[in-house]
Amino acid sequence: MELTRVAFSVLLCLIITIGRLEAQLQVGFYASTCPQVENIVREEVRKAVFSNVGLAAGLVRLHFHDCFVRGCDGSVLIDSTPGNTAEKDSPINNPSLRGFEVIDSAKSRLESTCPGVVSCADIVAFAARDSVALTGGMSYRVEAGRRDGTVSLASDTFSNLPGPTFDLDQLTQSFANKGLSQDEMVTLSGAHTIGRSHCTSFSSRLYSFNTTLDLDPTLDSAYATQLEQICPDNSNDTSLVVPMEPSTPNLLDARYYANILANRGLFTSDQTLMSNASTAQQVRQNAFNGLLWKLKFAAAMVKMGQNEVLTGSSGEIRLNCSVVN
Ligand code: HEM
Ligand SMILES: *[C@@H]1O[C@H](CO)[C@@H](O)[C@H](O)[C@H]1NC(C)=O
Ligand SMILES: *[C@@H]1O[C@H](CO)[C@@H](O)[C@H](O)[C@H]1NC(C)=O
Ligand SMILES: *[C@@H]1O[C@H](CO)[C@@H](O)[C@H](O)[C@H]1NC(C)=O
Ligand SMILES: *[C@@H]1O[C@H](CO)[C@@H](O)[C@H](O)[C@H]1NC(C)=O
Repeated sequence: MELTRVAFSVLLCLIITIGRLEAQLQVGFYASTCPQVENIVREEVRKAVFSNVGLAAGLVRLHFHDCFVRGCDGSVLIDSTPGNTAEKDSPINNPSLRGFEVIDSAKSRLESTCPGVVSCADIVAFAARDSVALTGGMSYRVEAGRRDGTVSLASDTFSNLPGPTFDLDQLTQSFANKGLSQDEMVTLSGAHTIGRSHCTSFSSRLYSFNTTLDLDPTLDSAYATQLEQICPDNSNDTSLVVPMEPSTPNLLDARYYANILANRGLFTSDQTLMSNASTAQQVRQNAFNGLLWKLKFAAAMVKMGQNEVLTGSSGEIRLNCSVVN
């Protein structure tokens, strides 16, 4: 009786384990097929970030934009073709998304070290983690085993990526659509503590808030004046950029949240976190406990990296991240 119960439990565990091996991501996925993978990606990310620190921010955003559109399947890396405008050429991504060349250089080294083994989607996930670590965030173990998708449509970006003018309900819904909670949304928004934004992403807050007010009343007026100096009008000039977080623009710290408390969130989507009692409480907690935020951020990145992934024999291992096989 006891024995059959033990045997049954063992069998159950086996079934669960095998099921996981086939269908789930795992840490150390390439341990036997390409043990050098994480070192190679880290080296390429280091090289790139030492020459241009902004690429760390670019690579974190690249993973987010990959995962929110058709899951983390490397679809954001695919080039447009004469018959198709790909995700990377959506105005949401072009010209602002950056770091593609870092993924390409890691991929070409990996193709000579372990040909046909490592997916582009996993390289993006590793590179985002390395970028988090290099900018002072908490490192974390990246689950791998994602496979690459074969479809990339610019039109998918509009319906799946949140916009900088989103209000709290829209943000919450957008993240819920990807299996992420409101708390995780607040946590992940803290990525806006590094990198840059083009003026075009927020200039309506300075010049055309609504029909009666030019300036968004939830934006600190001294900060607005500084922003107006860099972004002189509401034009479409895509050459003008500002740091997302001016005091420590290259550090993944909790200043983003302190700024929001001071009405210095750059986007409507940042400042709107104060519009709801529960998200405002998260903002305060993160502002005052940066270590806790870093831990939550690392965990939320892992969760984001699980979204709608292709595993097992779905998809493919792209040989060139810019083109489907
Ligand atoms: C909450 C909803 C979000 C919205 C509406 C949003 C929107 C934006 C926009 C408009 C920009 C500026 C692009 C430009 O004009 O150059 C930006 C930059 C950035 N975003 Fe987000 N984002 C969101 C969430 C996230 C998440 C979840 C992450 C990553 C975990 C992230 C990481 C970044 C980074 C690192 C940058 C700077 C990129 C660079 O310097 O190249 N964002 N975001
Ligand atoms: C413009 O925004 C302000 C502040 O949020 C608000 O009080 C006002 O009613 C808005 N005006 C219009 C026309 O929407
Ligand atoms: C900016 O671009 C939008 C959409 O492409 C267009 O409607 C608008 O007129 C442009 N504004 C300026 C100042 O060029
Ligand atoms: C804040 O957000 C939570 C979760 O979405 C929701 O239950 C609550 O009603 C919101 N509170 C306000 C005041 O909007
Ligand atoms: C990958 O494909 C792109 C687009 O066809 C091409 O420009 C690039 O040179 C290719 N990269 C490699 C390493 O072959």
